Order: sequence, then C-alpha cells, then structure tokens
Amino acid sequence: MTTYTLRNASPAKTRCDAVVVGVTSSKKGPVVATGGGDVAKAYGRRLAPLLATLGFTGKDGETAKVPTGGTIKSPLLVLVGLGEERALTPVGVRRAAGVAARTVTNAASVAIALPADSPELVRAVTEGFALGGYTFTEYKTDPKPGRTDAGEVVVLSEQARKKDTVAAFERARAVTACVAGARHWVNLPAGDLTPPVFADAVVAAHKELTSGRGAPKVGITVWDEQKLAAEGCGGILAVGKGSEAPPRLVKLTWEPKGATRHVALVGKGITYDSGGYTIKPPASMLHMKEDMAGAATVVQALFLIAQLNLPVRVTAWAPMAENMISGAAMRPGDVLTIRGGTTVEMTNTDAEGRLILADALVLAAEEKPDTIVDIATLTGAMVVALGERMAGVMGADDVVAGLRAAADAAGEAVWPMPIPDEMRERVTSSKVADIAQHDWVRWGGGLFAAAFLREFTDGIPWGHVDIAGPGFNPGGVHGYTTSGGTGFGVATLMEYVAAQA
Ligand code: BES
Ligand code: MN
Ligand code: ZN
Repeated sequence: MTTYTLRNASPAKTRCDAVVVGVTSSKKGPVVATGGGDVAKAYGRRLAPLLATLGFTGKDGETAKVPTGGTIKSPLLVLVGLGEERALTPVGVRRAAGVAARTVTNAASVAIALPADSPELVRAVTEGFALGGYTFTEYKTDPKPGRTDAGEVVVLSEQARKKDTVAAFERARAVTACVAGARHWVNLPAGDLTPPVFADAVVAAHKELTSGRGAPKVGITVWDEQKLAAEGCGGILAVGKGSEAPPRLVKLTWEPKGATRHVALVGKGITYDSGGYTIKPPASMLHMKEDMAGAATVVQALFLIAQLNLPVRVTAWAPMAENMISGAAMRPGDVLTIRGGTTVEMTNTDAEGRLILADALVLAAEEKPDTIVDIATLTGAMVVALGERMAGVMGADDVVAGLRAAADAAGEAVWPMPIPDEMRERVTSSKVADIAQHDWVRWGGGLFAAAFLREFTDGIPWGHVDIAGPGFNPGGVHGYTTSGGTGFGVATLMEYVAAQA
C-alpha cells in the first residue's frame, strides 16, 4: 500500500529517496518546469551542462535519473520531459507523471515536483503517477522483478493548503482507486472471471466499500438465471445460453438524501466474447476478456460517486454473460424477446453486446431516470473510425455534450458520432421480428449498434459510449495507460454525474 500526501515544501529541501522534476523543451534548450524551481536553483550554473551531458531536451516522454551527490536533500533526481511549454495541460502533465512512476524503480519514498499550481494539475499529477505505476501481477510467480513500489508518495504544490486543491487531491485518490479496481477486473482471465464470479467480486467489493463507520450506503441486487427468466430478460439469457457459466445481472443504487436528479448507468459485461456460432477469427478472440470493461466501469463509477458523496441519485446496471458455443448456444436466425416484449431477429451471434444491453436499458428506463448512459466495448467499427485511444459518444445532443465536457474534465478522449436516420430504417428492417439485431451491412456498424440500443431507452435522454478502442490496451504502456484494462470511463462517468448536481 502506498500512502499519498499533499505538501507545500521545497523539492530541494525535501528528503525522499527520489525527487521528480519536469523539464519543458524550448528553442533555447530544456527548461525546468514550474514546481522544480528550487532544484534548478540548487544546481545553479551546473544545470545546463548537466542536461547537455545527459542529452536531455525536455521532449515529451523523455526521462533521466541523476544521482544528486548532496546538491539537494534527496539522493536521486528524476527528470521527466513535458514537451513544449504550451503543452503544459493537465493531460500532458498526467501523462508525464505516469512515465515518472515507471522510471522510479527503487525508492521507498518519492517527492513529485511536477507543475501542480492549480487544483487540475494537482489532480493530474496524482492520478498520472498512481495509474502509470499500476501493475497486474496476480499471475506472476515473481511479482515485481527489479522494482519496489514506493510506500510514500509526496505530491508537492504551492497550493497544497488551499481547500479546492485538497479537494482535487482527494478526488484524485478516489479516482485512481476505482480506475485500478476496473483495470483489475478487466485484466483477470475470462476463465477466472465468469459471470457468477464477476457478480461475486462486485458483491465483495461492495461489502468492503460499505463496511465501517461513515461508509457510504450503496444498495446491491444480483439476479441469477432463474430470476432473469422470471423477469423476461431474453437478451441476457440468449447470450448466456452457450456457456457452462450462467449469466447474471448486478444492480447498484446510490440514493443520497435530497437528490433531485437520477442518472442510470448501464455497462456491457460480456466476460468472454468468442463470437458464438458467428465465431471470431482467432486473433480477434485473443483479448476478448476485455468485453466486460463497460460493466467494470459502471460499477466502479458508482462506487466512486458514492465515495465522493455526490448529491445525485445513481443506479448502475451490469448485465453479465459469457458468449460461447455449445449445443445449447443461440443460433443466427433465432428470435429473442427482450424485456418489455420487443422481439429481435438475431442474425449474428457476435453482435451479442446489444442484446444484453437491451434488457438492461429497458430495466433502467422503467425507473424513469432523468438520463441513461451506457458504456460498452461494442463495435470494432468504432475502433476503425476513431482509433484505439478514443471513445465514440452518441445519443441525445445534450447528453453527448455533457459527456464530452465530463471527459474533458476527466482527461479522457471522446468524440461525438451521429446516428443517421437511415440507421433507424436498417434497425427496423427485419422481415420476421420487430427489429433486426444486425443486417450484415458493414458500413456504419457502430452507428447501427447505437440506433439499435436507442430502441430500448423509451425516449429518455440517453447517451452511448463505445469504448471498444480505449477500454483495453493490447500493446505497451504509454503515459499513464498501462497494458491491458485501462479503466477508461470511470472518471468521465463520475464527472458527468457530478455535473448533474
Ligand atoms: N466485443 C466486440 C467488439 C470489440 C471489437 C471490442 C474489438 C473490442 C475490440 C463485439 O461484441 C463485436 O463482436 N462486435 C462486432 C459487431 C458486428 C458483428 C456487427 C464487430 O465489431 O465486429
Ligand atoms: Mn461480439
Ligand atoms: Zn462483444
């Protein structure tokens, strides 16, 4: 466990195992960034030749470790490039802090002297460092070769005593814990996180969150396969039919006194997506444990909202199923009845996410919340459109605008996508059932999926976030985004709800 503290102190006089200082690049060479001034002063005229010797330019992502030999109180100086001065945004600082976390490999205590002279920057530094240092070592015999986590991290800021800075720091601590919680669930192999196990894990996390004095009051209900059948959840049941592990639905409620607004969050919880009979090609199946990222996100977002005591009523719905093949699995051409009675002609078993979301959206809408937001690793088409690091947002204009503002505040990248009118025609094109799950037209696949989901929202203002790209990082670490589950959306959903207060 690492303890984080926020302090107003000189980085040159702070005694830690390592001190992190930012360096920006400029036409005249590298410049020590805000926050590191005292360190630059302690080095005086020796600083420029030192940076020259290291070949340090201050470009984005650059790092260097310098033994200080007594020049400052701490024995190790860690330099992190921040890029050009004008790139000194919370996003850039968050990324640099993430890089710094992985550069410090053997320190019991670390002081961070990155630019932190506003609440937003304090939050960026704190979140970036904690998330950039996240590791998933559950399955490693030797958990952390060559690396010890710092037991103590000190975030230095001249504004450390200001109320809004302290609030930002505390918010950052809560955000990182919940983002890490989502990453962890996504990273667990699908064989070890079937729907019943996932539901149990949520129950256990809920118990931990709500025990003890002053703990937030959060309600939880889990539906098993019998209850799902009794409640008419034909979408969740159909997708879960092919698996040995039965489906679940988890509902969480946060109902603070005096709340006047109610937001429903719905997250896709496919614990593994083989594609079903419309089977995926092998390479596409490889990372499909990620397909429950939406569910992990809404659960952790609700936990975060409750922890921060946000004065908005929130209900989170997490349908969970495993999309597999067996003699009992659904077949292309089957007709399903979603809760509420809408029949769906299912023509592609690999478009399973929208089926479980349909039931959950109907359940969410039955409570007549002011807004519904769903988040899902829904379509490869969205990754084709926006790349791997950006989510697509669709739905009602004001909800989309709210989600964009929330993502900006959270430092997550989203981009609006339309739901063209023709999509409604395509969704209602089934010759057999009320609506078509898929029409085997490739174009606009992410938009068709959104149009399909909208059918189940009963006209309630709704937003849809497709995180098929940013929900999981199959590649190497960048900035504060580690490999595997990213926890994308936890902070955005929290900010969205915070803005409804
Ligand atoms: N889980 C996938 C989407 C996905 C793709 C997530 C890549 C993460 C990375 C989803 O269930 C799926 O298979 N979607 C299909 C939809 C199609 C059959 C309409 C897809 O994108 O190909
Ligand atoms: Mn699929
Ligand atoms: Zn899927």
